[in-house]
Amino acid sequence: MNGRTSITPRQAAARARRVQAAGTIANLVRARPPVRGERRLPELLLPLLLSLLLGCTPQPSPPSPPPPPLPQPSASRAADGAPPHPAFGERVAERRAMVHDQLAARDIADPRVLAALERVPRHHFVRPGEQRQAYRDHPLPIGLEQTISQPYIVAFMTQALRLGPGERVLEIGTGSGYQAAVLAELGLEVYTIEIVPELAERARRACSELGYRNIRFRAGDGYRGWPEAAPFAAIMVTAAPDHVPPALLEQLGEGGRLVLPLGSHFQELVRLEKQADWIVRERLLPVRFVPMTGEAMQPRQQPVRPMPAAADPP
Ligand SMILES: C[S@@+](CC[C@H](N)C(=O)[O-])C[C@H]1O[C@@H](n2cnc3c(N)ncnc32)[C@H](O)[C@@H]1O
Repeated sequence: MNGRTSITPRQAAARARRVQAAGTIANLVRARPPVRGERRLPELLLPLLLSLLLGCTPQPSPPSPPPPPLPQPSASRAADGAPPHPAFGERVAERRAMVHDQLAARDIADPRVLAALERVPRHHFVRPGEQRQAYRDHPLPIGLEQTISQPYIVAFMTQALRLGPGERVLEIGTGSGYQAAVLAELGLEVYTIEIVPELAERARRACSELGYRNIRFRAGDGYRGWPEAAPFAAIMVTAAPDHVPPALLEQLGEGGRLVLPLGSHFQELVRLEKQADWIVRERLLPVRFVPMTGEAMQPRQQPVRPMPAAADPP
């Protein structure tokens, strides 16, 4: 699934106003990861229709531009000369297998993303009893009814943000802190907000122990973003609202990308890109995330509609 539509920021805000409060539940479990090379029916039909309409055979798509140069991962970690935390040297083979079997074997092709997931010790972000499962192909509970996302989803969302070196990124839904660490490993300037204070504190500690210094944490509701640090080149939301939080769109810089799961029972990962006068919207993937709580769940004010004028008496 990959549909593109363009709407103006005003239309996006109007659409956001129309929807109702969020539904309930659900652990993050991706529906079915697309297998490399798999093409869905509309993708197969479109070139055929075009070739019939235009009377020519479909052209191969132009090569995508090369990814930007690799940031220096060490620049993002402790510059104090301290030796790396022992967790970096643990479970290396499991991490490598995860990257090879679950990410590269599907559609994660950005070498920077693959390198970051191979480097960050995911087992450091799960509870001690879950560490043996840390590199498996599914999400895991992290307590307080929350989850650490499936490795593939972390990689997919990171890649979907099309990050450039040193950009400023906002994450809503810190959870375990693993996704924030992956972004930090890429040498980005990371801001992350978590609504459950205990999780925010635990994540801050986990990232700090590993030496990541380029992450700023905040405990609170991320619905209104982090205005003092805006604009952001990219924003990701790792809990599902049923509408696009308007403040997040506002806090995107020109050319900025927002990736978020949208919906309650049926959810879809969506990318919004802010261009001069337009928001370009793309549907990426069916997903299942925990709901975004806080203000996202409150009934939203409906725009006041003018009363229809009373008909003139005949
Ligand atoms: C699927 S988990 C995130 C996984 C996380 N990115 C990681 O790497 O472990 C979703 C998180 O979003 C948080 N969350 C839900 N609503 C939120 C909100 N309004 N503001 C900030 N965080 C929120 C939840 O408490 C939960 O920790």
